[in-house]
Amino acid sequence: MLYRTFVLCILVRNTWSSSWKSEVEEGSKVHFPPWFKFGSATASHQIEGAWNASGKTPHIWDVFAHTVPGAISDGSNGDVACDSYRLWREDVKMAADLGLDFYRFSISWPRILPSGFPNHINEEGVRYYRELMDGLLEVGIEPVVTIYHWELPQSLQDLGGWTNPLVVDWYADYARVLFTLYADRVKTWITLNEPMVFCEATYTLGSHAPGILSPGIGNFLCNRHALLAHAKAWRIYDQEFRHKYHGKLALTNNLLWFEPDEGHGDEVAELVRELGAGMYSHPIYSKEGGWPPVIEKIIAERSRRQGYPKSRLPPFTKEEIKFIRGTYDFYGFNYYTARLARWAKPGEVLGKWPHFGTDELNISLVVKPEWKKSPLDWFIIYPEGIRRQMKWLKRKYGNIEIFIMENGLANIDPRLDDTDRVDFYREHLRQVLLSIYEDGVNVTGYTAWSLMDNYEWIDGYHSKFGLYAVDFSDSERRRTPRASAFYYSSVVRTGSLVLPATYTSYTASSSKNALSYITIVINFMLALSLIK
Ligand SMILES: *[C@@H]1O[C@H](CO)[C@@H](O)[C@H](O)[C@H]1NC(C)=O
Ligand SMILES: *[C@@H]1O[C@H](CO)[C@@H](O)[C@H](O)[C@H]1NC(C)=O
Ligand SMILES: *[C@@H]1O[C@H](CO)[C@@H](O)[C@H](O)[C@H]1NC(C)=O
Repeated sequence: MLYRTFVLCILVRNTWSSSWKSEVEEGSKVHFPPWFKFGSATASHQIEGAWNASGKTPHIWDVFAHTVPGAISDGSNGDVACDSYRLWREDVKMAADLGLDFYRFSISWPRILPSGFPNHINEEGVRYYRELMDGLLEVGIEPVVTIYHWELPQSLQDLGGWTNPLVVDWYADYARVLFTLYADRVKTWITLNEPMVFCEATYTLGSHAPGILSPGIGNFLCNRHALLAHAKAWRIYDQEFRHKYHGKLALTNNLLWFEPDEGHGDEVAELVRELGAGMYSHPIYSKEGGWPPVIEKIIAERSRRQGYPKSRLPPFTKEEIKFIRGTYDFYGFNYYTARLARWAKPGEVLGKWPHFGTDELNISLVVKPEWKKSPLDWFIIYPEGIRRQMKWLKRKYGNIEIFIMENGLANIDPRLDDTDRVDFYREHLRQVLLSIYEDGVNVTGYTAWSLMDNYEWIDGYHSKFGLYAVDFSDSERRRTPRASAFYYSSVVRTGSLVLPATYTSYTASSSKNALSYITIVINFMLALSLIK
């Protein structure tokens, strides 16, 4: 009953707001085009658990959480997480209840290749993902697969991981195994999830697994090898698999949107955009390829002044530039937050995330006082950023297809009436509509992060991103839909930000009563608005 009441309250609040009226007045602007796809996402380490089961060997995040004191803020680990290795059928059911077009999940490298290499393919791991894919396909949901979502086998980390140039081949061999196994079922592949985060947070900040502090050296090696690895996998698919399976591949970048601080021109923001977005996009998406010239020049000059015989940012050869350039079928874009950029004051110590290598540019990042804050200090809510970032991508790289692979709100509150998350989704989706209709941006899909609360890396179980709440104290890891799940499922099913009058299509059996209740209330409210 309590649950029904809260769903009701939210929907009253959201439907009865002034914005609802203006949406209706704007007519078609609240509707996504019929070809637009909606999905939701997770990542293997964040949900699967079974860290030492069925032939899987440890990866860098297992080892990091188990052995580095204080590495994970709440001292937890991903040993069990949402137990999705066992409970994946529930995940499929949630995706089906939401009515998703696709479900994005990732494959754990050491679950498929326990040594890190293709000398031995772990049949139990192979079966797990095959069953998950088939389970999704059976209910009409497209599997969208991330090949690498940060789970480097520890055996390869011991050989230098992303700083060893051979990682390009290790990764490409792993990718070829996945194409061979699953290309018949999977038509959309993400080669790498957020290389900017796994390179910068690991080497510039030392905060992500494996926690190696090597600012200005390790991050650039990682960046370089990540791009080459991505390109090699894309070319393998292109040459060996595409003619038969006709799939699409890209990496996905987490782009923080930057605007100039008061009293600064756009130059400072543009420079940090080239560092945050350009270093992971320009080599692939620009016409000329290679590192963003402005960054390459600054790092070379700084390196020289610092006494290095060569730039700390290793240049690409002509062949490598050609090899990487054009290796995409769309632009994968993850969006969460934004910052203002300004020139750093002399001697200013730059903070932790989302500062990454910005000290290389003498740039400090700050928050605009008017921006809405979430309960997590790094997570400032700025919906316009998602639109402005896509407009920037279009201006820089042309009218490429953009696929939003992650967007969602973290809070720290397990409650089910997550009005803040409903607002977050509605406001960001409204900006996506403006991108489509006002900016002519070719954005074709949207992915809500995340399907359920899960293991949020260094933040453990503290941050909650889920459309579904997960009870981590329950051995069955019970999943319960939040208000945002109801709202998102309405958007997915109707393609509209406005809740329809006869909103009854949500089929979760546990929530049928709540939904018929909602329908009555919405009808009542519509009636009221007609009277007015
Ligand atoms: C797997 O790890 C758990 C701790 O998460 C431990 O209790 C269990 O004994 C381990 N199992 C094996 C087979 O090593
Ligand atoms: C960065 O700031 C320092 C101290 O303010 C200054 O000496 C240096 O020239 C600046 N570098 C760049 C690239 O602007
Ligand atoms: C958007 O991209 C898709 C996929 O590349 C393409 O089929 C479609 O024609 C593009 N739409 C526009 C308006 O450019």
